[in-house]
Amino acid sequence: MDAPRKLYVKSFGCQMNVYDSHRMADMLAREGYVETAEPAEADLVILNTCHIREKAAEKVYSELGRLRKSQEETGHSTLVAVAGCVAQAEGAEIIKRAPVVDLVVGPQSYHRLPELLAKARAGEPAVDTDFPVEDKFDHLPAPSAAATRKRGPAAFLTVQEGCDKFCTFCVVPYTRGAEVSRPVAKILAEAERLAEQGVRELTLIGQNVNAFHGTGADGRTWSLADLLYRLAEIPGIGRLRYTTSHPRDMGEDLIAAHRDLPALMPYLHLPVQSGSDRVLKAMNRKHGRELFFDIVARMRAVRPDMALSSDFIVGFPGETDAEFEDTMDLIRRVGFAGAFSFKYSPRPGTPASDLGAQVPEAVKTERLHRLQAALEASKRAFDLSCVGRTFEVLFEKPGRQPGQLIGRSPYLQSVVVNTPPAGIGEFLTVTITEAGPNSLAGTPLSHTPLSHVTARARPLAALEA
Ligand code: 5AD
Ligand code: SF4
Repeated sequence: MDAPRKLYVKSFGCQMNVYDSHRMADMLAREGYVETAEPAEADLVILNTCHIREKAAEKVYSELGRLRKSQEETGHSTLVAVAGCVAQAEGAEIIKRAPVVDLVVGPQSYHRLPELLAKARAGEPAVDTDFPVEDKFDHLPAPSAAATRKRGPAAFLTVQEGCDKFCTFCVVPYTRGAEVSRPVAKILAEAERLAEQGVRELTLIGQNVNAFHGTGADGRTWSLADLLYRLAEIPGIGRLRYTTSHPRDMGEDLIAAHRDLPALMPYLHLPVQSGSDRVLKAMNRKHGRELFFDIVARMRAVRPDMALSSDFIVGFPGETDAEFEDTMDLIRRVGFAGAFSFKYSPRPGTPASDLGAQVPEAVKTERLHRLQAALEASKRAFDLSCVGRTFEVLFEKPGRQPGQLIGRSPYLQSVVVNTPPAGIGEFLTVTITEAGPNSLAGTPLSHTPLSHVTARARPLAALEA
């Protein structure tokens, strides 16, 4: 038998790219590729790229430069594929700018990778940035039990893709296309299979995940809340999360699901972008700051332990000092447990990139520093407030010291536990004893199984056999 061909996949950007990278690897496993962590020894390198901000897109070209150099030095010939949102946005231009690239494939066509690879090997142009009518998910094989196990007990599952919101700063509606929800039966089958393979935590992903409206087997349209209630019944699934949401789609039924489902984690990522009504309007976010406060209050009314994270953009065109202060005020009022924040980056083809009154770089830098200091303080206060609390932790990987395991709290904090009476893929009730800058430390309280992880779940040890 021939030696297996080696595949190196690198993901940039969001969690959907991580999910897509896994699906590409699953598909190429069928073609005889095994994954390697070493780009230099790979026969095929796939860069799964992000176009959301200029810096993200530029990273791809630095990576391509490194690949070219390494090929020149080692003489090892590698096929190079660019996938994801830069591929979608720039298409064949990428090959012109970086001739080391053999193949370009957009996020809706990666199920066609085997044909594209055959073309690239034959030296033919291999560029596919279509939005094909066939559903890529119908053509992608499920991961093997071994692949799922390697990826750990917390998995992503795409339920929705694309976006129809057209925020004026954002490229996503152009790179990922219109909003499409996957059919309920396919999502349930994938979730059941992952649970069978040892997955204990599912994060449902979509660019606008809470706008999910998938068709059920009964022909009815299911909301994200409907889907969550059903997924919570799957044996073995102890935790559910979903990301990323839009405030406009935070329906009453979704808030009620947080009240009713112990498996639904009390942590919500809800991007607000700005705390200024005028800026929100110019961003075409279709809501004002009051709606955000209202959602937070309603969430906390049904789940008092609810914590939030968010995304912020500073220096949107025309943002004044007073408008920036409105964002700082919103941050103080909400008390976020985590956040991502960015300087506004004009993206080609988006309405905001054509606006006058672009904010000077130095002003953006100064605002970002102040905003991040406030968000960091807020996160630190939240982490410190966790000391003395008791959390269920799902263990994901070994720690640095022998016997140590690292798991996640309900709030996605890393929790380090010395010699816990549990293994990877298991839950343990832990009392938090310390909050460090990057992780919490805890001691086990008990080893009672969680009531919402049903007894029917197969133990992980059985899966190793
Ligand atoms: N400039 C800066 N940040 C952006 N984001 C999206 N587009 C831009 C842009 N043009 C941020 C938003 C979004 C997150 C994924 O990236 O905060 O929620
Ligand atoms: Fe982009 Fe706005 Fe859609 Fe989010 S909701 S993906 S920010 S256009």
